[in-house]
Order: sequence, then structure tokens, then C-alpha cells
Amino acid sequence: MKSAFISGITGQDGAYLAKLLLEKGYKVYGGVRRSSSSSRGRLEELNIHNDIEIISFELLEQSNISNTIRKIKPDEFYNLAAQSFVGTSFEQPIYTSLTTGLSVNYILEAIKSESPQTKFYQASTSEMFGGIKDAPQSEQTPFYPRSPYGVAKLYSHWMTTNYRESYGLFACSGILFNHESPLRGEQFVTKKITKNIAAIKLGLIDKFSLGNLYAKRDWGFAGDYVEGMWRILNHDTPKDFVLATGETHTIKEFVELAFKRAEIPYRWDGAGLQEKAIHQETGKVILEINEKYYRPAEVDLLMGDSTAAREVLGWRPEVNFEGLVSMMLDHDISKLRATL
Ligand code: NAP
Ligand code: GDD
Repeated sequence: MKSAFISGITGQDGAYLAKLLLEKGYKVYGGVRRSSSSSRGRLEELNIHNDIEIISFELLEQSNISNTIRKIKPDEFYNLAAQSFVGTSFEQPIYTSLTTGLSVNYILEAIKSESPQTKFYQASTSEMFGGIKDAPQSEQTPFYPRSPYGVAKLYSHWMTTNYRESYGLFACSGILFNHESPLRGEQFVTKKITKNIAAIKLGLIDKFSLGNLYAKRDWGFAGDYVEGMWRILNHDTPKDFVLATGETHTIKEFVELAFKRAEIPYRWDGAGLQEKAIHQETGKVILEINEKYYRPAEVDLLMGDSTAAREVLGWRPEVNFEGLVSMMLDHDISKLRATL
């Protein structure tokens, strides 16, 4: 039986990856940080919480990381834990640098000295392309991070490459474009949109607010992307890969599809900070812009080229943009309806 350790198992990707590895017959260890309340909701939602061996794990505690790797010596280590919200990284740049950046060095150092046969996966990100204007972005595109989060991820990305080249570790990064799901954290824009539109649909709120509607993202389904992570670590040579759909859409397009799916009739009005969506029948404002959701520096355009993953790993995303919006909205409506 192969074994895998997943840091960040309580997050969106951690939960889907754990489910996938259990289905493949792995013994799965999950790193969970100390918290005053349970963070295992996603594992419970996928009904896998009893199938995982939970290990106390904190990214900032080098001794804890080193002891964990010495004790378990997993065949595969998936490092998904991070301060992952770009907005927060502007408010907490130092904490983000330590957790999302430096901690990866603790893990690599521990693998090198305690379990060099362990294969290591680093959760790199399209945020590292940030200010690059060329699209689509591939493994060959230069990096230009535009947030403390992006800068921290670039550090951990290059540190992973460095340990592979210097010490021969099987260490790789997946450069993943945005991927979403019904289990997505509520701060991220897709979940914020579907959760609020579900609440408007059920008459629980009148309106909600967003920031920049015109940034473009390449959005896929997290369930498809965790399959890509596994393929990256199970390829015969360690190599970095981009995982993306190749399509890009504005936040506004995501909103439009969600309103359509919810059968809420609306029209757009105004521009800039005055832009609004207005309910066609009631005339009420249902979406407005709030400057506080704008970022000090924006990533305007992300669109990935995953040709290498498709050709070398045989990976491809199954859920398209419209399917993703429908999946998330339908889930949020049913979940909310069940609470009424
Ligand atoms: P997520 O839902 O925010 O999950 C992050 C996980 O990290 C949670 O389990 C969290 O634990 C854990 N964590 C945070 N700080 C920690 C600390 N100090 N010590 C130990 N654990 C800690 O993120 P995700 O969307 O699943 O993303 C997974 C990884 O992929 C992240 O590294 C993210 O930056 C990266 N990534 C994500 C995307 C995307 O679109 N989703 C794209 C590219 C890269 P709690 O549950 O206790 O908070
Ligand atoms: N969160 C949020 N909330 N974003 C908003 C809002 C809002 O109210 N209004 C507009 N946006 C815009 C942001 O300015 C950004 O351009 C876009 O929506 C997407 O924001 P997020 O959903 O927070 O995701 P992200 O693209 O910044 O980061 C995600 O994807 C990265 C990969 O490119 C995260 O999952 C990162 O961890 C990941 O690395």
C-alpha cells in the first residue's frame, strides 16, 4: 500500500485529493493545524473523515515538520497548506511570506535529511505570472508576481526546483490556474457569487457587493485538478506542469451565468464604482461595487496553456466554465434550502 501525506487536507484541494488517493488505495495522512473549533467540514462533506490518519501539523513549526516526515516517511508528500487568499496577503505580507514561502524550505530540508525517497509536490500558482500581459501562459512564460502571496509562492516554487536540481529529490511543482468547487472557501470570488446569488434566489438577502468585475481568470473544477497533481508525482521524471482549461472569463461573466442559472432577471446599470445589477421585476439593486474589495495591485489576465500536461501526462479538465457555475450554484441553493 502506498502512503501519502497531505498538508492542508482541511482545505478545498486537500479534501478532493484525499478522496482521490483513498479511491486509489493509498494510506492517507492529513496534516491539520491546531484550532479551537473543527476545520474538518470538507472531509465530512465528502464522507472521508474516518478514513484518514490526522497528524498535528503547523507550517511555521520546523521541529513538527521534521518529526512528522521522520515518523511517517510517506511515499508522496503533497504540500497544499498555505495562506492562500491573495487579498489577505496584502494585509499580512510577513505571515504570508513565512507560511506560503519559507515553510516550504522546512519541508524540503526535512525530506532531504529524513526521507529523501519521498516524492514532493508543491502547490504553485498562476498568480506567479501576475503582471505578464502575454497569454496563454505556459511553463516557459516568465514570472511577474503582483501580490505578497505571488511573491511567496515564487520563492517556494524556485526552492522546489533548487532541491530537485541540487540534491536529486523527486520534487515538482504544479502551476495551477484557479480551480473552484462547491467546497471552495467563502472569501474567493466564485463562491462569494454563488452563495450570495443562492441567498437572493431564496429571498434571504436583497443584495451583495463585489470589487473589480473585469479581471479575467481561467477557472476549472478542483476535482479535475487533483487528478493532475497525482499524475505529476506519478510521472517517471520530476517535472513542473501547468494545469489550466485554456479559457478565460471576467468576474462579470461568472456573475451573469450565475444569475441566468438562478433564473433571476436583471439588467446592468452605471459604470465604474457606480456599476450595479438591478432586478428587472422589483427594480431593486441586487449587486453593487464596493471599493474595499479592490486590491492594491491586480492580476488582470490569467489564461493557461496546459499542452504539456495534456500530451505528457494525458491530463485534461472534464468540467467546463458553464458546468462549474451550475455545479456551484445548484449546490449552494440546495444547501441553503435545507437550512430553511
Ligand atoms: P485552501 O482551501 O485555502 O486550504 C488551505 C489549507 O492550508 C487549509 O487546510 C488550511 O488549514 C491550511 N493552512 C493554512 N495555514 C496553515 C498553517 N500555518 N499550518 C498548517 N496548515 C495551514 O486552499 P486550496 O484552494 O485548497 O489550495 C490548496 C493549495 O493550492 C494552496 O497552497 C493554494 O495556495 C494553492 N493554489 C490554489 C489554487 C486554487 O485556485 N484553489 C490555485 C493555485 C494554487 P485550515 O483549514 O485550518 O485553515
Ligand atoms: N475574493 C474576491 N472578492 N475577489 C474579487 C471580489 C470580491 O469581492 N470582487 C472582485 N474580485 C476579483 C479579484 O480582484 C480577482 O481579480 C478575482 O476576483 C479572483 O479573486 P479570488 O477569487 O480571490 O482568486 P485569486 O485569483 O486572487 O486567487 C486564487 O487563484 C490563485 C491562482 O491563480 C486563489 O485560489 C489563490 O490561492 C490561487 O493561487
